[in-house]
Order: sequence, then C-alpha cells, then structure tokens
Amino acid sequence: MALMGVDTRCLGLFLLCTITGHSLEIKVNPPQDFEILDPGLLGYLYLQWKPPMVMEKFKKCTLEYELKYRNVDSGSWKTIITRNLIYKDGFDLNKGIEGKIRTHLSEPCTNGSEVQSPWTEASYWISDEGSLGTKIQDMKCIYYNWQYLVCSWKPGKTVHSDTNYTMFFWYEGLDHALQCADYLQDNEKNIGCKLSNLDSSDYKDFFIRVNGSSKLEPIRSSYVVLQLQNIVKPLPPEFLHISVENSIDIRMKWSAPGGPIPPRCYTYEIMVREDDISWESATDINDMKLKRRANESENLCFFVRCKINIYCADDGIWSEWSEEECWAGYTGSDSKIIFIVPVCLFFILLLLLLCLVMEKEEPEPTLSLHVDLNKEVYAYEETLC
Ligand SMILES: *[C@@H]1O[C@H](CO)[C@@H](O)[C@H](O)[C@H]1NC(C)=O
Ligand SMILES: *[C@@H]1O[C@H](CO)[C@@H](O)[C@H](O)[C@H]1NC(C)=O
Ligand SMILES: *[C@@H]1O[C@H](CO)[C@@H](O)[C@H](O)[C@H]1NC(C)=O
Repeated sequence: MALMGVDTRCLGLFLLCTITGHSLEIKVNPPQDFEILDPGLLGYLYLQWKPPMVMEKFKKCTLEYELKYRNVDSGSWKTIITRNLIYKDGFDLNKGIEGKIRTHLSEPCTNGSEVQSPWTEASYWISDEGSLGTKIQDMKCIYYNWQYLVCSWKPGKTVHSDTNYTMFFWYEGLDHALQCADYLQDNEKNIGCKLSNLDSSDYKDFFIRVNGSSKLEPIRSSYVVLQLQNIVKPLPPEFLHISVENSIDIRMKWSAPGGPIPPRCYTYEIMVREDDISWESATDINDMKLKRRANESENLCFFVRCKINIYCADDGIWSEWSEEECWAGYTGSDSKIIFIVPVCLFFILLLLLLCLVMEKEEPEPTLSLHVDLNKEVYAYEETLC
C-alpha cells in the first residue's frame, strides 16, 4: 500500500501551554480536514487528514494519530495508531461509514503524561438512488476449486420487467473497477456472473457492486465484500482405495482433487458404511485407519468429501461427496459365485440335452441303464460345481 510517507514529526503541532503555578498544562489540537474519500473502488475508502498547526517550540515532538472507524451499525470500532496522514480500508457501502481521529503527543514533550486532543469526526454515505425493492436479492458467490468465481442473484422484489443488472468488481492490484464479461442469463436477463483468471485476488478484500438500469426507475446498487479463499468449494477427492488388514483394520486412502489447491490445505470428512451401520470420521491427511465394528460385515464401503482447512482459510464450503468405494474382499468372492453358478447351470443343461439326444437315437437301452447314465451325469456335475 503506497501510504504517504510524510514524516509528521516536525509538522503541524499546536500546543496550548498554560502555566499554573509550577505545573505546565499541555494541550494539543485534533488533526485538520479529516474526511472519508471514495475513489470509486466499490468499498475501498481513504480516510485522510492534515496535521494540526505548528508551534516552533515543539517541532521536535512526534505526533501520532489515533483513528477509529466502523460501518455505522456495527458495534465495535477498529482502532489504528499511525504517524501517516492517510489510511485505507474496505467497507460495506450498503451502510454508512463513520470515523473519528485525535492527535497523541509523544512522551518526551509531555514530561511523561498522556496528552491527547479532542476527537474530530467524519462520516460517509454513498449517494444511491432507487428504492430498496429494486435491489438484487439472495446474492451467492462460490469460488470453485480456487479457480473461478460464480456469483448469482435474484432480481429485486418490485422491479419492472425491463430491468437488467450489471456486476462490477475490484480488488487491490486492479487499476479500476471492472465489469463482468461472462454473465449467466435467464430470459436474456443477467442473473449471475462467472469470473476466472483472478490473479492474486485471494487473501484480500474482493469488492462487488451489482447495479442495474431500467427505463422506468433508478435501480438501487448492492455491495458485497468477500475474501475469495473463504468461499472455496473444492472438487471431491479422487482415487479412493479401501482394504482390510488383519481382518480388523480398515485402511482407506484417497487423493486430493486436482487443481491449484495445495494438498496441505484440505481437511476431509469420511463416511464409512459397514452393512447397516455408517459413521463419520475426520482427518487432515489423505489416509485413515479404522477398526471394523462388526466381524463378519459383508459390505464395507466409504466415501469422502473435502474442504479448505483452517491453516489456509477462515472458512470454506464442503465439496460434493466422492464416489463410493467398497472393499473388494467381499465383492470379489460374490462375483466369483455369480460367475460360477450360470456356468454350472449351462453344463447341466448341456448334459441333459445330451441325455435326451442319446435317448432318442438309442431306443433300445433298458430303463436301468438309462438311470445309471443319469446318475453318472449328476455326479459329474457335482464335481464341476
Ligand atoms: C517534569 O516532571 C518533573 C518531575 O515529575 C518536574 O520536576 C518538572 O518540573 C516537570 N517539567 C515540566 C516542564 O513540567
Ligand atoms: C454501475 O457501477 C459501475 C461501477 O461503479 C459504474 O461505473 C456504473 O456507472 C454504474 N451503472 C449504473 C447504471 O449506475
Ligand atoms: C471378532 O472375532 C474375534 C476373534 O475371531 C473375537 O475375539 C471378537 O470378540 C469378535 N468381535 C465381535 C465384535 O464379534
């Protein structure tokens, strides 16, 4: 941030000194021309001021400014102590902004006591037309796989049918606010926006304004401030693998989804399904060992989902669940049975057919012989199966 590097130590000090007996009462004035400026960056505002006036005698003193500011209806103030004459921060422009500032005199000049000026105040409200009913509703933004941002909204409650909305965005690093180039549309009206290639836009405020136009009335703007890393929805984990060791330990492995997110940024939630029981587990690494709950469970499956962990973001959105992966130990033997049964049936049929054919071609043989033949056939079938 290119803050004005003005050294205020020898500037603008105005001290009122009253000698009462032996004690010296020192007073200092608040900064001058305190104001909140909007450079058109959708919520990134400049709070700036000028130093109080100079008095020769106190030129060597260091001045510090105590700045407090907040959005009008938020309870707590942010406090900054600075020697600069400007401070920049992001605000929610849907609401008003208020700030106050006072001068602090450094200790060498005050003989050890705290000397502050009274506060001076400033406030800022964006001048915005349009009734509240024209403002978009239900704005939602998701940063998919830390790669592209999709925001969507619904039109205001009371808008005319010709109303169309436009989305602008800005973050530190861009010269000015940019308009969305890839709108999501419904009936030729913009209902969302897709943004990609947002270079170095994470870990800083991302400002969005959705305004609009209608021939019949002005449209109220809506402002949103985001941090992109906090709204990431990753892809689901891939390449799941499950095995059972010592017939009791379940070992599960999977891979972090592909893409720009480093594997150390994930946390996982695992759902294990053992016959009719299922239970959840969580981990920050991409494998896990658990004990089986039942000895002879026939069905052992798991699936995983992931989210950005607390080491990489303050918040996040769970991915979809992955595909379910089951232990091949059981399904393997099941599939063998499924394969063997039809083969056996096929041979039985074949042999029966053979018997019938032989019966027709040789009407001679006695009944006893025939029965013997059949017995042999069945014996053969049993060894096969
Ligand atoms: C500063 O404080 C000392 C001791 O507290 C006192 O003797 C002295 O007179 C003070 N000087 C001024 C300029 O107030
Ligand atoms: C919408 O917002 C952008 C960015 O602040 C601004 O340049 C544009 O003039 C606005 N459009 C309307 C119709 O208010
Ligand atoms: C599982 O089997 C082992 C040995 O076969 C036995 O000691 C254990 O009690 C069984 N556990 C359950 C939950 O059936």
